[in-house]
Amino acid sequence: MLLLYRDFLGFLEDMTRRYGSVWQARAVTEHVGMINEPELVHEVLAGRASEFVRTRSQKRLIGRAVGNGLILSDGDFWRRQRRLAQPAFHQQRLRTYLPVIHGIVERFVSTCPTGRNFALDEKLKELTLEIVAATLLGTRPPDDLGKLAEAVNGIQVGVTRLLRTGIPLPAWLPTPNNRRLQRSVQALNAVILPIIAERRRDLGDRGDLLSMFLLAADSEDEQRSMTDDQVRDEVATMFLAGHDTTSHLLAWTFHLLGQHPHVYRRVQEEADQIPSGKPPAMEDLRRLTYTEMVLKEVMRLYPPVYILLREPIHEVELGGFSFSRGQMLFVCPWMLHRDPRNFKNPAEFDPERFAPSATETFPRGAYLPFGAGPHQCIGREFGVLEALLILARIAREFDLELPPGQSMEPEALITLAPRHGLKMLFRPRGARPSP
Ligand code: HEM
Repeated sequence: MLLLYRDFLGFLEDMTRRYGSVWQARAVTEHVGMINEPELVHEVLAGRASEFVRTRSQKRLIGRAVGNGLILSDGDFWRRQRRLAQPAFHQQRLRTYLPVIHGIVERFVSTCPTGRNFALDEKLKELTLEIVAATLLGTRPPDDLGKLAEAVNGIQVGVTRLLRTGIPLPAWLPTPNNRRLQRSVQALNAVILPIIAERRRDLGDRGDLLSMFLLAADSEDEQRSMTDDQVRDEVATMFLAGHDTTSHLLAWTFHLLGQHPHVYRRVQEEADQIPSGKPPAMEDLRRLTYTEMVLKEVMRLYPPVYILLREPIHEVELGGFSFSRGQMLFVCPWMLHRDPRNFKNPAEFDPERFAPSATETFPRGAYLPFGAGPHQCIGREFGVLEALLILARIAREFDLELPPGQSMEPEALITLAPRHGLKMLFRPRGARPSP
């Protein structure tokens, strides 16, 4: 059972091969279960969502970094926080982020090396962190960005290690990992808290996510706006939820495009259609229909959020099994998306399956890159627009070459990462490969 923690996806695949798509098992201290039948998945995430909550281990472990933010909260508290945060993701608000994202992407493109291999995955991480920071907190001096990157990465590493330990030690024990995690959380707070305090003093709408949180007042109870602790938790949550998801999606995308040059050429042709030299309008990005099909297909094969966890609030019957209150249940998009019962030729990279004219249909609950039901991703539109903008801008500027021998092996961190990173060679459009 230690395999559960060392090779999580391997464990789930192995158990599914042996016992089918719905099973339960005792794993070290936890009683766990797998629900990977589309109809049942839909029941758990959407139809009967009120009977399931986030798991206690998620809250205990990830909560050390992001408190009780949206990715961990449940019930009335979650509902209220989600209502307060929602306006930050409305279309009108997203429009105002596009020029900010455009400016950052322009700088990124101008600093990408050409003619030699470089670690594209690392650069994409910095890029998406800068975008979340700029749209979330407003402008900050560049040295804060370095501190922020260090803190957020430290949190990701620390939380992943906690999740991988079969029996995590209590937070107060001064283990190296606990100490590192605490330092990273303190470093994140040291960036976020002064900004919150400053904004409280000068409470105007600066057009960023933080303004939305600070100005948000509950429509049902005007007195109950968010406390500083809640704002801090939600901001930390957005960093964790909104940064590596998009950077890993883009890393997988470039990897697959490097292997499928004809698909990349179509992405380039589409990118050439949008006006250059100014921030794209929402409508320009919406016209990138083929590019969006590519992103959907990448998220099918490499869903950044490869696992969703829930526990029932009382005993439930699902698929002929009885699952007890508090039992940790897995829904695994990684496996659902690769199941031949749900997708034809599932191992094949074929963006056409998402064409508006496609005849292939897949069952409800079988494709879940952004989850489903009330907890589905609040940043979905944001993430897709951001990825479209970045991908189109790079496609317009560069041809790609994937160095030989790049592995596509995934690593199940908090999100699904390329285990060996992603080296890539960019060349100005139309330049000949060197002999
Ligand atoms: C391609 C990028 C992204 C992917 C694939 C993704 C995926 C997901 C998934 C699968 C969930 C559901 C989790 C569950 O049911 O337990 C989720 C929730 C969430 N995501 Fe994303 N996400 C992405 C981008 C973002 C961005 C950019 C943000 C914010 C800036 C964000 C913020 C959140 C939050 C706050 C939740 C919790 C929502 C709730 O429970 O109310 N995500 N995301």
